[in-house]
Amino acid sequence: MTHVARAIAHPNIALAKYWGKLDVATNLPAVPSLSLTLDGMSTTTAVAFDPALAADAVELNGAPASRADAARVSALLDRVRAAAGTGVRARVASENDFPTASGLASSASGFAALALAATRAAGLAWDAARVSDLARRSSASAARSIFGGWVVLPAGRQGEDFLAAEPLAPADHWDVALVVAVATEGPKETGSTGGMQHAARTSPYYAAWVEAAPAMFTRVRAALLARDLEALGTAAEHSALAMHACSLAADPATLYFQPVTLAALARVRELRRAGVGAWATIDAGPHVKVLCAGGDAARVAEAMCEVPGVLRTIEGRPGGAAVVEDLAP
Ligand code: DP6
Repeated sequence: MTHVARAIAHPNIALAKYWGKLDVATNLPAVPSLSLTLDGMSTTTAVAFDPALAADAVELNGAPASRADAARVSALLDRVRAAAGTGVRARVASENDFPTASGLASSASGFAALALAATRAAGLAWDAARVSDLARRSSASAARSIFGGWVVLPAGRQGEDFLAAEPLAPADHWDVALVVAVATEGPKETGSTGGMQHAARTSPYYAAWVEAAPAMFTRVRAALLARDLEALGTAAEHSALAMHACSLAADPATLYFQPVTLAALARVRELRRAGVGAWATIDAGPHVKVLCAGGDAARVAEAMCEVPGVLRTIEGRPGGAAVVEDLAP
């Protein structure tokens, strides 16, 4: 049995948003989502099961993890230990090469890399669907980062509490870019888990969102398969802003936008008026992510860099699946 493994996974950005859980205990999504896995940003996670450890030792970006983060990591490791029939604790070291916990999908690439490295280190020969289901239990968007390119996470369950993401089209299906206008390097105030639970409890628009989301997903999916950028961008903006509207109507409101977010949204509209195909999506943070044709990425990045408050841009291109790295002996 191998006891050590390292995996690399990339963040993904949803164009049809997941927001809301069917079941909190099993973390099954209430709505279907569709995302693009990106290259250009990655999480690298090493897991070593070590009989000498009395407890899991978790390090994130070179520093000991907070109690809450360490507990989420140990919950995933407990599932792996139960499946492998072992009680051995693990050392986990995870590094992101992009802002952590600020709405840049760090939990997606983080739990995808952790699920892959932990199952491999424990000697479990699981296929990608089982690893995706494991990652989903920790963070539903992480299920999608197991696969490269365009990925679907259906709503509900496929088997008894089982739900894995499914690859829809490979990274080379379409030459598009997602330009991230980075608005802050710091952590966000309300995470996605808390934000969606609060909306489910208090937003009068939550039921409307859950009812409307499947049709938004279907529009996004059809536009993607037809490689119709205008239709995809329009549907993706609708999904993102409807998700935010749902949380804006929560009591008290969850507001992920900063002034820079609205300035960036206005810039995207200006670009469109100037004839550049650019559409925005926003997750549980202040960053605007701009969908455009691959050939327009440099121009869009330049325009977004000029927006007051945008610190820098990251040009995300369609990226690959999570992979296990060979470790030197
Ligand atoms: C806005 O996957 O972080 O990025 O399952 O509670 O961990 P949990 O939530 P998470 O939510 C992501 C929400 C989103 C939209 C999306 O990625 O689909």
